[in-house]
Amino acid sequence: MEAERRPAMLEIAGLTVAYGKRRALEGVALTVGAGEIVTLLGANGSGKSTTLRTVSGLVRAAGGCIRYDGRDVSRWSADVIVAAGVSHVPEGRDIFPDFSVLDNLLVGAHTVAGRDVPARLEAAYALFPVLRERRRQRAGTLSGGEQQMLAIGRALMTRPRLLLLDEPSLGLAPRLVREIFAVIRRINAEGVAVLLVEQNARAALALAARGYVLETGRVVATGTSAALAVDPRIRAAYLGLDPSRPEGLAGYHRGTRGEGATP
Ligand SMILES: Nc1ncnc2c1ncn2[C@@H]1O[C@H](COP(=O)(O)OP(=O)(O)OP(=O)(O)O)[C@@H](O)[C@H]1O
Ligand SMILES: [Mg+2]
Repeated sequence: MEAERRPAMLEIAGLTVAYGKRRALEGVALTVGAGEIVTLLGANGSGKSTTLRTVSGLVRAAGGCIRYDGRDVSRWSADVIVAAGVSHVPEGRDIFPDFSVLDNLLVGAHTVAGRDVPARLEAAYALFPVLRERRRQRAGTLSGGEQQMLAIGRALMTRPRLLLLDEPSLGLAPRLVREIFAVIRRINAEGVAVLLVEQNARAALALAARGYVLETGRVVATGTSAALAVDPRIRAAYLGLDPSRPEGLAGYHRGTRGEGATP
């Protein structure tokens, strides 16, 4: 199925956000289709986290519209947005270091009916077996990669239909980045749409179907990942590649939802 033909699950238009007098977003428009992986790229301070925080109801927009499943959610509280199926893994993971792994997962399930909790725990453990092994361990003693797994596992406890991921690869060794990205692919293969904020543009474009590039609060480029990967500006600024050589992400790009996966 063409990514572009899927109905938009998340539709942001004209989004403007300010912290005090300072504009952080200015007329941002983007969409995420049901079951799609979309990446949001941009330099430090360009407004990536602000975009995710506004979608999840943690920051109020000064203007514009956020539609989720056809409804304007821009005035909804964060809890109601979670209950509607949107889960946010914040930058820096935000786990409770003094709680056990299990208790962190249970905190994620606070909006979930009690009888569903064991099944959701099992699903999180199936995705991240290390969390089961370490369930009694204090979360603050986990490695960076394990803490990221815990943060994602916790976000999945509410069984979201749209997952907002803020720099899941931050500070992780390449092997762990690959592991986390493989898990994102698996989560997506089960039908969860993903809006992925990343500074690791190469890995993000390899995973996502489409992407947007933010610069000082505005979308300056958008397109399929393949198109963005050969855009000279993107290549120079975000991929560290020679803008004049059209090598793209050949051999790296594998699309989403198993498309092109090795049999
Ligand atoms: N709570 C806040 N109060 C005031 N200004 C803020 C706040 N949060 C973010 N900003 C400002 O808004 C702009 C966008 O910040 P944001 O965190 O969205 O960027 P980002 O793209 O996620 O950056 P990074 O890659 O460093 O995480 C920045 O100029 C930042 O300084
Ligand atoms: Mg950020």
